[in-house]
This record gives sequence, structure tokens and C-alpha cells, in this order.
Amino acid sequence: MHFFRYRNGHLYCEDVDLARVAEELDTPTFVYSAGTILDHYTRLDGALAPLDHLICYAVKANTNRSILKLFVDASAGFDIVSGGELYRVLAAGGDPAKCTFAGVGKSREEIEYALEQRVYSFNVESEAELEYIDKIAGVKNARAPIALRVNPDVDPHTHEYISTGSHENKFGIALTDAPAIYERAAKMRNVEIIGVQMHIGSQITQAAPFENAIRKVAPVVRELKSKYRIKFFSIGGGMGIVYRCALESGSGKWWHDRGGESSAFSVRDYAEAIVPPLRELGIRILVEPGRFLVGNGGVLLTRVRYVKKSSAKKFAIVDAGMNELIRPALYHSYHEIVRVKQTKSERERKASKIDIVGPVCESGDFFALDREMPKLYEGDLLAIMSAGAYGFVMASNYNSRPLPAEALVRGDKFALIRKRQTWEDLVRGET
Ligand code: LLP
Repeated sequence: MHFFRYRNGHLYCEDVDLARVAEELDTPTFVYSAGTILDHYTRLDGALAPLDHLICYAVKANTNRSILKLFVDASAGFDIVSGGELYRVLAAGGDPAKCTFAGVGKSREEIEYALEQRVYSFNVESEAELEYIDKIAGVKNARAPIALRVNPDVDPHTHEYISTGSHENKFGIALTDAPAIYERAAKMRNVEIIGVQMHIGSQITQAAPFENAIRKVAPVVRELKSKYRIKFFSIGGGMGIVYRCALESGSGKWWHDRGGESSAFSVRDYAEAIVPPLRELGIRILVEPGRFLVGNGGVLLTRVRYVKKSSAKKFAIVDAGMNELIRPALYHSYHEIVRVKQTKSERERKASKIDIVGPVCESGDFFALDREMPKLYEGDLLAIMSAGAYGFVMASNYNSRPLPAEALVRGDKFALIRKRQTWEDLVRGET
């Protein structure tokens, strides 16, 4: 469930009118709903209640300190992929003993930092990395807790750039090779085997690939458990969210009823598929969701700068670009786009097709192509929905555009949680 609703023709985030946020903070601005994020966390936590489990929020999806603090307060763990992410989690008050450290290319500096902070586990992606961790831990007179990331070779039916669990990806160790590498690890003096990890991809909207992967890896986990002191099995993240969202406008669902999936896959489907095979393992289960927890909890507010007509097309040029939200450009992903203010007469206005594009000098700089939208005017405030995950974190300064602001809503209050960059920020550190 998300807390974005129309009230009297204005789009609200919880009890805050998004038009007010835009007036105060300007655009483009990412706005997040604490209530939505916590609701997703609580529902997942409840669905996994039959298991001894820990939800490790995948920090990469949204790294803002205030967002991390929500998860710290909810007693979550964290899935990190860099020293920088570990630093952020600690800065938000997170417990390193609840952090799992993933990633195919960990550096010496990062491994040392994670050892010093005593992270829960290093999720190791290759034999070479295992040797390196053993060596560094030896120098530091430490023992590194490790889990191997196994690759179950399943097809998660998602975009090729975010599919990770097939044997053609750079990620993990083939399931068949894992036992021998565990055997090697057991002989290393400075590592301690404590778990098994996998992650098959992202934005997976069916429960079956998760279940298939678990059923494939479970016998290996069982076997390893009989030999080593395996404490946990991490099944990764990847739960998909609804991008063609079913926003209830209250005053009419006119812009939602246009085809596409309206609901994808639910926490209940997910839990029903995965809990039984996991329960049999009798081991602690870790999950690493990113998008599921924060994706529907954020929007990107942007204003229409110009409306432009060519003989073939109509464009709304908005003040956000691919540098703020790269997902449509990179994955051709769909984000619902709505007007923040709609009077009744506006709602009844005839829809027509328009491209909603940014100001960046690339044809790939678009948010929607040939999208049916009610007539747009210069100055219209738009909300690009479901932008809470992989939005700001993938933003860049391309075209020397300052990074946008971020705000967090709780109930009837909102706070700036990251200032918009200035032009001075752009040149800071350059000589
Ligand atoms: N665990 C591991 C090891 C991962 O690589 C990832 C995501 C996650 C957990 C969290 O996945 P999630 O629950 O968020 O699906 N930028 C892309 C998504 C890249 C995902 C990378 N790894 C996008 O915007 O769709």
C-alpha cells in the first residue's frame, strides 16, 4: 500500500499537499513517504514471521541517511555493496553486526574497514576474492565471517540488465563449484564459514523464480550445514513492485484504467511460495529487498517548462532529466506520471499522446513516450510515481545539472533531507 492520494484535486503524500512541497523546495525534488516505506517493511516482516529471519535493506536502492534511519529504528539489517554504504549505515546509527557486505569487486580498503567494523558477513563472489579476504584478515589478525554467493542459474524473467542469477552473469559462484570452494575456505585460517547467499535479479514479479531458486539451492545448504557451522541462508532481494500503480484518486480513476498490469505480485504470494521450503532448513533466513521497501514510497516532482509541437509529435519538456531519474532511459522502464493539481474540468479534458522529456542533450532523455495525458500546460506540476528506489541514487551531474533536493513526509509534516546542489557545489574539489 502506498500513501499517495488525491484530495480535492490535489495529490497528497500522506497528509501533505505535494504542491506545497514544490512551492517551498522548488523542483525537481524527490519526495518520500515514511509511512509507505514502513508499511512495506512491516508487511514483509509479518509475512516472514514463521521463519527466524532478518530483513537486510539493500541500501543501494535509496541511501539517504534519513531513509536509513527509518530502517535502523525498525531494527532492520542492511545489505551493503561498498565501504561508502557501510559508512552511511553507521552514520545513520545502524549496527554493523547486522550488515552483509556483497559485491564482486571489494577493495582492500573496503575489506579492512568492514573487518574493523565487524560486519555480520562478507558475501564472497569468487575464489580470488575469498583468498584476498583471507589474506587481509590475516594481516589484521582477524577472522572474516563469510558466505559464498551461489548462482542457482534460474531465469528470473526480468530486464537483462538486472538479471543476476543465470550462469552467464558476472555474479556468484556456480552451484556445482560451491562445495569445493567451501572446502577450501574451511582450510583457510582467517575466514569463518557462516552462511550461504544468493540473489537472482531485481524487479521480479512472480513468486516462481524465487521458489525455484530456493528449491535448487536448499539441498546444497543442507549438505553444507552438515559440514560447517552455517548460521544463515540469504535469499537476496529482487521482489518487484507495481509501476503502473493503482493510485486511488477518490475523485475518479481516469488515468489509471488504461491497460497494463495494475497489481503484480504480493507479499503473500511471495511468502506462500518461499516459507515452506525455507522452514524445512531450520536456519536463519536473510532477505535483501531494496526496491520493494522504498520504490512505491517515493515520487519525483517536476514542472513542465515548455510545451513544444513538431509536425510529428508533441513534447512536454520538464525540469527533471535523465540525470535525476535514469530508469526510463536505461531500462525503458515505465513510471506513471500524474498532474499534482487537477480540477474537475481538467480531469474531463481530452487526453492525447505526448512525449514527456527532460532538458538533457540526449534523445534518450525521456520519462514517457507517446503517453496518453490530459492536456499539459507550461508550469504544470507533475509527479513521476514509484521513484523511491534507484532514483536519486543513480542521479548524476550530467550536463552540469545540480543534484535535486530530497524531502521526507511523515503524517502532516515534511522535512528537507538533502539540500539541492548549487552551481558552486558543481565545481567544488576541482582545480
Ligand atoms: N541483493 C543484491 C546482491 C543485489 O545485487 C540487489 C540489487 C539487491 C539485493 C536488491 O534488489 P531489489 O530488492 O532492489 O530488487 N538499478 C536497477 C536495479 C539494480 C539492482 C541491483 N542489485 C533498477 O533501477 O531497476
